[in-house]
Amino acid sequence: MKKINIAIDGFSGCGKSSTAKEVAKRLAYKFIDSGAMYRAVTLYMLQNKVDIKDEAQVMSALEAISIDFRHNPQTGKSETFLNGAYVEEEIRKMYVSEFVSPVAAIKAVRVAMVAQQQEMGKYRGVVMDGRDIASVVFPDAELKIFMKASDEARAKRRQAELEEKGEEASLEEIVKNFRERDLQDSNRKESPLIQVPEAIVIDTSHLEFEDQVNKVLTLANEQIEG
Ligand code: CDP
Repeated sequence: MKKINIAIDGFSGCGKSSTAKEVAKRLAYKFIDSGAMYRAVTLYMLQNKVDIKDEAQVMSALEAISIDFRHNPQTGKSETFLNGAYVEEEIRKMYVSEFVSPVAAIKAVRVAMVAQQQEMGKYRGVVMDGRDIASVVFPDAELKIFMKASDEARAKRRQAELEEKGEEASLEEIVKNFRERDLQDSNRKESPLIQVPEAIVIDTSHLEFEDQVNKVLTLANEQIEG
């Protein structure tokens, strides 16, 4: 059967990753969370006190960074590893969220991540979520989705996710971080977050998870069968 690539872009915390993950599972495709890659790079920069304004330091950090996703047979989930170490939980914490946008704005960081992402999708059968997937990583993706949601819906969902992992954050703090990241991600020079004209917009503010998954699956099946 024909395999396609699916690009899901959009603002912070509107359900891109969870939807992409489930869609990939139902299609038996590979799910790639590109945000996890920028988060892992950010964690490395923080752990190693890399001065991100110093190009030489950034370049040598990038040479030392290796990111991979491993399937955990117990949870059935894909987990992020940085230089062989499990970082899936650490990269979701607020202190990483607060530093990720400036790191993701660095050209050398983007060049390195985009090359890996394109490699992962070269045989198609990939669902990837992020900010520049439809515009830069897979401009030839057969299906392009742009997701958005209200501040309230996004913050409530993110708060619940953090709580589940034992981190407490107020709705105000979460909304502030989303808005700051959205602003920086949309206004940076290198591959900013944009909605490409051919993208199909899905507002998840009032959608149940199952409905947003089904919407994407219906669109995907039209492309696969068509
Ligand atoms: O899950 P959440 O919406 O909070 O964010 P994420 O998808 O994990 O992405 C974290 C950050 O990585 C974003 O705020 C962007 O700064 C950056 N990012 C990016 O620049 N390009 C991508 N393709 C994906 C993420």
